[in-house]
Amino acid sequence: GEIASFQRDISAWYRQNARDLPWRRTRDPYAIWVSEIMLQQTRVAAVMEYYQRFMGQFPTIEALASAPEESVLALWSGLGYYRRARMMHHAAHIVVAEHGGKMPATAAQLRKLPGIGDYTSAAVASISFDEPVPVIDGNVERVLLRLRGEPAVKGHPDAPGLSDLKAAAQELLDTEQPGDFNQAMMELGATVCLPRAPLCAECPVRAYCRTQGEHETGPAKKMRSV
Ligand code: ADE
Repeated sequence: GEIASFQRDISAWYRQNARDLPWRRTRDPYAIWVSEIMLQQTRVAAVMEYYQRFMGQFPTIEALASAPEESVLALWSGLGYYRRARMMHHAAHIVVAEHGGKMPATAAQLRKLPGIGDYTSAAVASISFDEPVPVIDGNVERVLLRLRGEPAVKGHPDAPGLSDLKAAAQELLDTEQPGDFNQAMMELGATVCLPRAPLCAECPVRAYCRTQGEHETGPAKKMRSV
């Protein structure tokens, strides 16, 4: 069917085009968690160095849990959003104290930890544990909207609600390889289905797209007053 071909095409593209990133060489849920928290508001290029240093200093959740908060925040210095680091540290204490140091293995259980919401729980559960849950970040949202031919402009009055998007994402999800599928959708949004000028000619799934280059340009940039 059409969904199966969509999955085949995006996954073939991902296998050929995935950037070789350190957190893609592991399925350790702790390492995936660290990378996804760092990636939430920070670009891949900036995260690389922080991730390597962080994992060098705190290679396990036990190492993170037993570190003093100052040293965790010192390693985070420059990434910003220090609340993310504090909550991660707090969550590490809980995992060590209450789960014997083993990260919970389902999205629903992960979701109970401080700082882990829909996005992070779905990313860790699908990438580390093959749980068939869709990941929806800003990039995936835009991809889904464009596939459906809906305006991908933030705050657009006709924008579908999140539960609608979730249903669409769940329907498309490749349940055989949910982690790779989710990462392929994020990667497509980050590198091809760009917000302002999507590279539709290079898109592996343009055949399934109701937008196909007819993308909205978004509200005109406000002129900066001099
Ligand atoms: N952005 C955040 N996490 C990502 C991932 N795992 N793959 C691609 N892009 C991402």
